[in-house]
Amino acid sequence: MSRNPVPVSLLPETSAIVDGRLGIAGCDVEELARRYGTPAFIYDEQHLIDRCEEAVAAFPDGVAYASKAFLCTAMARLAVDAGMQIDVATGGEIHVAAAAGIDPSHLVFHGNNKSMSELELALDIGVGMIVVDSFDELDRIESIPRRGGRPVRVLLRLNPGIEAHTHEYLQTGALDSKFGFPIVDGIAESAIGRARGSSSLDFAGIHIHIGSQVFDTSSFARAMEELAPIIIESQAEELSIGGGLGVAYVEGETAPTITEWAHVIRRVADDNGIDAAITAEPGRSIVATAAVTTYSIGTIKNIPGVRTYVAVDGGMSDNPRPVLYGSGYEAFLATAADAERPWEVRIVGKHCESGDVIVRDASLPARTLVGDILCTPVTGAYGHSMGSNYNKVLRPPVVFVKDGMPRVVVERETYNDLLVRDVGL
Ligand code: LLP
Repeated sequence: MSRNPVPVSLLPETSAIVDGRLGIAGCDVEELARRYGTPAFIYDEQHLIDRCEEAVAAFPDGVAYASKAFLCTAMARLAVDAGMQIDVATGGEIHVAAAAGIDPSHLVFHGNNKSMSELELALDIGVGMIVVDSFDELDRIESIPRRGGRPVRVLLRLNPGIEAHTHEYLQTGALDSKFGFPIVDGIAESAIGRARGSSSLDFAGIHIHIGSQVFDTSSFARAMEELAPIIIESQAEELSIGGGLGVAYVEGETAPTITEWAHVIRRVADDNGIDAAITAEPGRSIVATAAVTTYSIGTIKNIPGVRTYVAVDGGMSDNPRPVLYGSGYEAFLATAADAERPWEVRIVGKHCESGDVIVRDASLPARTLVGDILCTPVTGAYGHSMGSNYNKVLRPPVVFVKDGMPRVVVERETYNDLLVRDVGL
């Protein structure tokens, strides 16, 4: 644990600290917290745009934003305006992207267990690509009568059988996985043969996704090397390398940029004789560092000789990642963002669980008080999207800031929302 101020590299791109106060895009974060209430997700819109544009430049053959990382209509439109497609993995994600007015041809539909009705919806609106995960899914797609009879473009998700360097729960490319066609016993070849031979399918190529929060680009390289013979043999027009690029969450971590990642992928493709178009679908690396979460400190409890608990007004309902994966975060005060942080505390939420931890081993400034606005950086990915209203805690709003102007793009849930679907009594 370090006493250092929070590293500025973990803050959104347009952040500036003046007299200790954090501003993002020219908006004072403490003022935003007072105005919109806490907890809240504050996103730097320019940061989002810059990451999308970086991805588009890095993958000129095409790149989709993995919307599971963070989706609302404003985000979907921002990504498409920047030139990205949208990776959707459920009917719900399709619905939100469609509500954003996204041309369905920009949607890439994923999922290991797409239902009949989800596939019907996807085919009905005309998604640009379906990434097929199983033989059962091939059966389902083929069984759906097609208006106009045009075959749907598909990638087949193959499982390279490698263990990416990341948390076990975030690995998806090991042989023992629910995702994709394994490349053993001729299974992948047989799936490709079926897709090629089907009049309802237009085989576009191969998809791989080895996992998430992967720092080591050699994991991607190994997956591509494993699959190169099949990619070449199948004459795939496209190879999607999926997403999974890691980001730094805490002091001392460094991650490759999207551009660096793309260079490695390109080189490995060239070295292995893969001449398919190379596409990707990053999620976390687009949105994670773009946001900070603001909380208010509600209680501070010292247990002499044991530890100090600092409780905030959110918790596992707005950030379940520490509970799920043991993920680490930094914390700092919005009005003392450049202050040393000598005080070792545990930051916890307001839920009725001991596991409701936001930062297990946090450092804060010595003068931290009840009522202060506490921020956790790098919360733009898989926080809002995996949030819940456990304990009937209201889900936080999402505020985009750009050029000195804040705008709410998702409102805070209300007590009424908690009863919208409750038809009891
Ligand atoms: N493509 C596919 C097929 C995926 O399954 C995923 C993520 C992505 C792309 C985007 O991966 P990214 O670039 O965001 O790493 N809830 C976990 C992460 C789960 C990732 C699921 N799939 C977390 O909070 O770390």
